[in-house]
Parts: sequence; C-alpha cells; structure tokens
Amino acid sequence: AVERTLSIIKPDAVAKNVIGKIYSRFESNGLKIVASRMIHLSRSEAEGFYAVHRERPFFKDLVEFMMSGPVMVQALEGESAVAKNRELMGATDPKKADKGTIRADFAESIDANAVHGSDSLDNAKIEIAYFFPSMEVYSS
Ligand code: CMP
Repeated sequence: AVERTLSIIKPDAVAKNVIGKIYSRFESNGLKIVASRMIHLSRSEAEGFYAVHRERPFFKDLVEFMMSGPVMVQALEGESAVAKNRELMGATDPKKADKGTIRADFAESIDANAVHGSDSLDNAKIEIAYFFPSMEVYSS
C-alpha cells in the first residue's frame, strides 16, 4: 500500500552537505518528498520527538546531538514507504549497516547516524503530525 513516513536528516549529515545526495536516494527508490522543512530543534522539541526513548541510557546524548545544528525534516510517500525508507537507511549502527545504505555511506557512529526514519506506520503518523500540519503535506 502507499504509505507516508517521517524522515530526518540529522545535524551530522546536514553539516556534511549531503542533503541532496540523500534526497536523490529517496527519489530514485520510489519515495516522493511530500513535505519538507529545515529546523534547528530546541531542547523541548528534541525531547518531545524522542519521548519514547526518555528512559533509555542514550536519551540525553541523543537530545544534545539533535540540538547541535539544523536538521532537515521530510515526509516521504510511496509504496511501503516505512519499510522502504528503513531499508535505504540501513542499520541504526552504521558499522552494522549494509553496503550502499545511507548510514553506511554517510554516518560515523550510532549517535551521529545521519538519518532517522519512522519504525512503524502508527509512529509515522504521529511523527509526521509532530512537524507538519496536514495541510502542509502535499500528497500526489
Ligand atoms: P533514531 O532512528 O533516530 O532513533 C533513536 C536514536 O538513538 C537512534 O536513531 C540512534 O541515533 C540513537 N542511539 C544511540 N544509542 C542507541 C542504541 N544503543 N540503540 C538505539 N538507538 C541508539
């Protein structure tokens, strides 16, 4: 089915100037950018986005990292978009990511891992709504 998912190009990849290269991978793999914005997250915005990880040991570092510079946030639309985006990203830890994935090619560490992608359709809906009012998502 056609789905939407939320993608974030994290501060490390924005700083590396590879937004366009990452967008190309989405576009050449059947994912369409239907909403996008650049934002420098505040602490409360980063904490709110990652609220599900609040009790995890890496939460504080994750929030600090996500506040360290601007991020590019986009909604992607396409057939099986949630799984497709996760396949293009590769494993959370870039050392374990398959060759040719975004994280294998652009990420340095499990913290600075270049991209975020929703892990389920339910979370995709919540995460898209966190950043975009529905009238700012331009479905095809
Ligand atoms: P992301 O998909 O954005 O979701 C949560 C982030 O926490 C994850 O990518 C990683 O960048 C970061 N993180 C740091 N340590 C871990 C860990 N041990 N397991 C999962 N995520 C981690």
